[in-house]
Formats: sequence, C-alpha cells, structure tokens
Amino acid sequence: MPAGLQDVVAGQSEICFIDGEKGILSYRGYDIHELAPNSTFEETAHLLWFGSLPTSHQLDETTRQMADSRAVSDGLIAVLRQFPKTTVPMAALRTAVSALSMFDPESEDPSPEANRRKAVRLTAQTATVVAAIARLRQGEDPIPPRTDLSHAGNFYYMLTGKAPNSTVERLLDVALILHADHELNASTFAARVTAATLSDMYSSATSAIGALKGPLHGGANANVMKMLLGISDSASVATVVRGMLDQKHKIPGFGHRVYRTEDPRATHLREMSREAGVREGNSKWFDMSSEIEEIMKAEKNLNANVDFYSASAYYVVGLPIDLFTPFFAVSRMSGCTAHLLEQYTDNRLIRPRAEYTGHAPGLQWVPVDQRG
Ligand SMILES: CC(C)(COP(=O)(O)OP(=O)(O)OC[C@H]1O[C@@H](n2cnc3c(N)ncnc32)[C@H](O)[C@@H]1OP(=O)(O)O)[C@@H](O)C(=O)NCCC(=O)NCCS
Repeated sequence: MPAGLQDVVAGQSEICFIDGEKGILSYRGYDIHELAPNSTFEETAHLLWFGSLPTSHQLDETTRQMADSRAVSDGLIAVLRQFPKTTVPMAALRTAVSALSMFDPESEDPSPEANRRKAVRLTAQTATVVAAIARLRQGEDPIPPRTDLSHAGNFYYMLTGKAPNSTVERLLDVALILHADHELNASTFAARVTAATLSDMYSSATSAIGALKGPLHGGANANVMKMLLGISDSASVATVVRGMLDQKHKIPGFGHRVYRTEDPRATHLREMSREAGVREGNSKWFDMSSEIEEIMKAEKNLNANVDFYSASAYYVVGLPIDLFTPFFAVSRMSGCTAHLLEQYTDNRLIRPRAEYTGHAPGLQWVPVDQRG
C-alpha cells in the first residue's frame, strides 16, 4: 500500500483534471492557462459548481447571488469577537465556518437546491469572515461588504476600507482562479469524507479548513514568506537554502505529490510576483525567490508549487502573511463546495481499510501489578 495513498484513485469526479507528468490542470475541461488570463473568480466558481461556463444572464445571476450572500449575521460577528486576539487566523476561520451553520436556517436541509445555495453562501461568506477576523484582531470593527465590487475587490475592501486599484484587484482575482480547485487535494478529500457520512456542508467545509491549515498543504505559502524574511540579506540566499537542505529541512513552496514537472499555477504566479514587484518598486522578494528556485532545481530537481510565488506576490500588495492561507481558503471554498455537491449527488460512505501492522490478535490481559 503506497504511503500517503500516493497515486491511489479514491473516487470519480467530473470537476478537475490534473496530469502531473505534463503539468496540465483543467477545471471542467478548461485549461488553467485559458481561465487565468480570461476568466473571473465569479465565472470560475459558476463553472466549478454548475459544470459549464455561464451565459451572460447566468453569470449576472451567480455574481448577484454571491454579492447578496456576503453579509454575515451579527451573531456570527459576536462569536468572532470572543476569540483571543492571538488566535491564528486559520484556527479562527475553522471555528467561524463551523459557527456559520448555526446562523443558516438551511444548514440541515440536504436538498440539492439548498446545498447549491449553501455552496454560494459558504464561498461568499468565507471572504467576509476572513476579513472580519483580520480586522477584529487589530481592535478594529469589521467592514460590512459592498455588493458593487467583485469578490476579489470586495475582499480587499473589507480588509483595508479601500477598494483596490484595478491591477491589485486583477492580481487577487487571478490568484482566486488559480487556487479554486485541485482535484482530491487533502482538504477537499477531507471534506468529501465528511460529506460521505451525509453530514452537512458546513461540517464538511470545516473538515476542509482543518486540513488546509497544515504546513504541508495550504500553510506552505505563509512559511515561504517567513523563510524569505528570515534570510537577512540577498547575498546569503544560497547559504541559507543549502544549509536548510543539509539539515534535511523541507523548503516550503517546493515539491508536489502529483506534479513531476512545473505546477501550471506556478507559471502564472511567478509572472504575477515579478510584475507586482516591478510595479510596487520592490523586486527583492521576487529576485530572492528566483534564486531559490534555481538552487532547488539544481540541487533537488524540485519545482516551485502554487505556494512559492504566491507568497511574494501577496506580500508586495500588502496582504498580511498570516492571511495568505485564509486567502487560499477564500478561493478553495468554491472548488470544495463543488466537490460536496458532486459527493451528495452520488454518495457512498467513504470507509477504507488499514493494513494492520500491530500485534497478532490473541494477547492475554494481565493485571497492572504483573506487567513488566
Ligand atoms: C508537497 C509535499 C508535502 C509532497 O510530499 P510527498 O509527496 O509526500 O513527497 P515527500 O515528502 O516524500 O518528498 C519526496 C522527496 O523529495 C524531497 N522533498 C520534497 N519536497 C521537498 C522540499 N520542499 N524541500 C526539500 N526536499 C523536498 C523529500 O525530502 C524526499 O526526498 P528523499 O526521497 O530523498 O527522502 C512535499 O513536497 C513538501 O513537504 N513540500 C513543502 C511544503 C509545501 O510546499 N506544501 C505545499 C504543497 S502544494
């Protein structure tokens, strides 16, 4: 049995295709290289949920529903206010997504129509919750969402109180498209396992956030930036990275369970990071990242994954480091909920077996004072 279920096919899905040898990623048949330059997050979310690109009317409708679903209840904000200011944002998000269910009258309604509405709400409100968490921990009140901005633009607005300029908005929008789905990644798989018990969408999404938090998954983007900031000057990049490799430390943002060639999302994020650095007059992080990428290719033959260049791109546009992973969640909630809708449509309990490696059965129980 392969460790970590590597290459095990654990189910069928029509949502996302990955060819790890050729570096292909497509959502519902549309290559990520088609979607990243042409689509929007709202359109991509519609594609993931409903299986085809929307007509103009459908796109307007999905966009409106997402915008109208952004506001969260005062009760939820009151829950968030209870969290200690030191709470890690992903931990706060995990609890908040769980708590959202208690303020949704449809949370226990398993009908396909209610589940589709909840997919929209969960995706819309994850952004609102992340922004509210970020504000509250700084002692500031949450900023209510606007309905006239895009998902990306409104997220930035709720975080900062200012609508982003079109360049920053597009950067965030493309980042949302690139992170929206990735087949049976750990968090989506966790969500599908929970849904397969016929538990509700909020419970399933909460499972996903717990898995996404880990540094081997969504948590890697923040660790990339911490590594870059920890390198005192650009001249010591090679020394630090080679030192980490000598000590058998993993370099965050490199390697992938599925891709054996360049992660196609990294192709876009590298360029986005480079452009953002030039635009903001701060190419230091991009330059350091490029050097690390060269070292990792030469020393380990490992490629940058989605998290590597997203770190420097987000940092130069001012996203706080510990919001990198929550921002990943803002996007991934769309793909995750698409997988939940698919799971409920043709459900069977997911319950694999373990290869037993313990003692052969038959040991005799002995009283505690007679044990050696
Ligand atoms: C993504 C990841 C979890 C995949 O794990 P995996 O498929 O189980 O692969 P392994 O951890 O077994 O790695 C295989 C080999 O590559 C090496 N390797 C993998 N990623 C590495 C990294 N980031 N830095 C250094 N070496 C790495 C491992 O040490 C191992 O080498 P070995 O065979 O000599 O022991 C792993 O590459 C990793 O931890 N990357 C860093 C975290 C990260 O960026 N996560 C985000 C993923 S999108």
